[in-house]
Amino acid sequence: MKPVKITVVGAGNVGASLGQRLIEKNFADVVLLDIVEGLPQGKALDILESGPVLGFTHRITGSNSYADTAGSDVAVITSGAARKPGMSREDLLKINTGIVSSVTKEIARYSPDAVIIVVANPVDAMTWVACQASGFPRSRVMGLSGALDGARLATFIALEANVPVTDVNCWVMGEHGSSMVVFPRFATIKGKPITEIFSKEVIDRLVQRAVNGGAEIVGLLKTSSAFYAPSAAAGRMAEAVIRDSSEVIPCAACLDGEYGLTGTVIGVPVKLGKGGIQQIVDAGLTAGESAVLSASAAAVRKQIDSIELQG
Ligand code: 2OP
Repeated sequence: MKPVKITVVGAGNVGASLGQRLIEKNFADVVLLDIVEGLPQGKALDILESGPVLGFTHRITGSNSYADTAGSDVAVITSGAARKPGMSREDLLKINTGIVSSVTKEIARYSPDAVIIVVANPVDAMTWVACQASGFPRSRVMGLSGALDGARLATFIALEANVPVTDVNCWVMGEHGSSMVVFPRFATIKGKPITEIFSKEVIDRLVQRAVNGGAEIVGLLKTSSAFYAPSAAAGRMAEAVIRDSSEVIPCAACLDGEYGLTGTVIGVPVKLGKGGIQQIVDAGLTAGESAVLSASAAAVRKQIDSIELQG
């Protein structure tokens, strides 16, 4: 039986960290692809050589050729420009549209049955680009958003309450960007809504820190955006697909009527498993909450409308 295969496009900080996390989970072979000669090969070989120490038995290889990615079950697109201090994710729209579109076409050519996970920013619009460029059913294309944003919010809630992060559950929806949507009633500590634990001022501060989570890291690192938490979150998504776990994880998803939205991509809770998005979960929003989510979707729609896809 052919081993499960995951391609990671881009051997930069996110891609290489993701390749390492995936191979250490030991459930799939990994191909690390990059255009830079030697970069994916060197990082993959270095990670492979940690196998005897860590005990994983699957293989990770580096390549500059999409032919080596053929037959992938999952392909994660981490390639693209990353933001610098003071930049918004939206500032990357133009440059990354071209990169994501061309990468996606190669993935679709060699792995026509793959599930695509997009990390490149602005991720909601880039997920739309991948949907168009691949021609895949929308269930097989998703973006990294809520899995990462929710992890950041959970971290800040746990720090504030001085509890283990495993006590915290929360969903983040909407754009992976400034119009990100957090409904505090969905955030709980041991099942208790944070609205019953923290004041509004504290909640607003924690939410704002989560919304700015990526920019906070960029501001600290100066020459790089975040990669440890993004790679962990993307790895969780890929694992849910490969293991057919039916786990509900907020992801950037192409909507066609769900939440009353069509022709846009935003973070909504989805059930992940074999074949990608098995179900877009209805979070049971109030009319007011739906209006907030729609405003976030409109912000992404504006980005999508500005995209000129090359044939
Ligand atoms: C972040 O929020 C890279 O968009 C990713 O750090």
